[in-house]
Amino acid sequence: MYPTSRPRRLRRNPAVRRLVSETSVEPRHLVLPMFVREGASEPVPITSMPGVVQHTRDSLKKAAAEAVSAGVGGLMLFGVPEEHDADGSGAVDPDGILNVALRDLRSEVGDSTVLMADLCLDEFTDHGHCGVLDEDGNVDNDRTLQIYGEMAVVQAQSGAHVVGPSGMMDGQVGVIRDSLDATGFDDVSIMAYSAKYASAFFGPFREAVDSQLKGDRKTYQQDPANGREALREADLDLAEGADMVMVKPAMSYLDVLRDIAGVADVPVAAYQVSGEYAMVEAAVANGWLERQRTVLETLTSIRRAGADVVLTYWATEAAQWLQDARA
Ligand code: PBG
Repeated sequence: MYPTSRPRRLRRNPAVRRLVSETSVEPRHLVLPMFVREGASEPVPITSMPGVVQHTRDSLKKAAAEAVSAGVGGLMLFGVPEEHDADGSGAVDPDGILNVALRDLRSEVGDSTVLMADLCLDEFTDHGHCGVLDEDGNVDNDRTLQIYGEMAVVQAQSGAHVVGPSGMMDGQVGVIRDSLDATGFDDVSIMAYSAKYASAFFGPFREAVDSQLKGDRKTYQQDPANGREALREADLDLAEGADMVMVKPAMSYLDVLRDIAGVADVPVAAYQVSGEYAMVEAAVANGWLERQRTVLETLTSIRRAGADVVLTYWATEAAQWLQDARA
């Protein structure tokens, strides 16, 4: 007549709830993606990502210092160049904006946090694809790999601790590992965007990097309908020497994250992307969601699904909330 099992006992007050809480989010788990714009004299707001800006070289350093004092685990840097060309040559130019800003950041933060660089051509090409094109306009996998190899070395020389290949070219991790090792950068890690989907949730990112893309990325990014090939991609990246693997986006792919976390023998990251950020901020702006609770719940659920590391545009602010909650 009365229940013999009473799960509510373990929820009766904050002390017992704290005792039995399985998942935590700590500042060190969070990585802040940052954008730096070549030639900018003022930070440029990104309309579809309220609160996120394209930094100037100066404001980038300040924001990085803030993130470090909030205790974030890492920074992931994206460059927004003034000029684009067919081969994305700004990506391999030591004086290209991404590489210059990496040197700025490395001198600002030293080894106090993990400095990561997006390794992809889409920000630098005039057609907006993640690789170079062949005569027929298709993304040329193997010619792109050569450029990725060079890009990795320049990023390492510029101070990146970790490179994050996000272009979904076949064989990218192996080529990058070889070129880093051949140039004495065997201590630079690869965080592989292993399972990256052709997602509508990247929409606001296109504004964030002034993307030139017409069309889509479906010949290289994964079909949202597919789970199994995510495991295959992660296996291949591990065999090629990935030090960490990533799932992206996060919230619509928690099942994929859980599956990969169940088999990967390296740390697993998840990227809570621009559209996930925009969606929550838009609802908050309308008074439809409570901001802090919602953000922390999203981060907790991504950690619960198996992410060791979470890339999120809320990293600094969330880290500050978490620090304040401790104090
Ligand atoms: C590619 C890259 C993208 C994102 C991170 N790296 C865009 C894409 O693949 O279309 C998206 C990140 C976000 O939406 O927050 N360099």
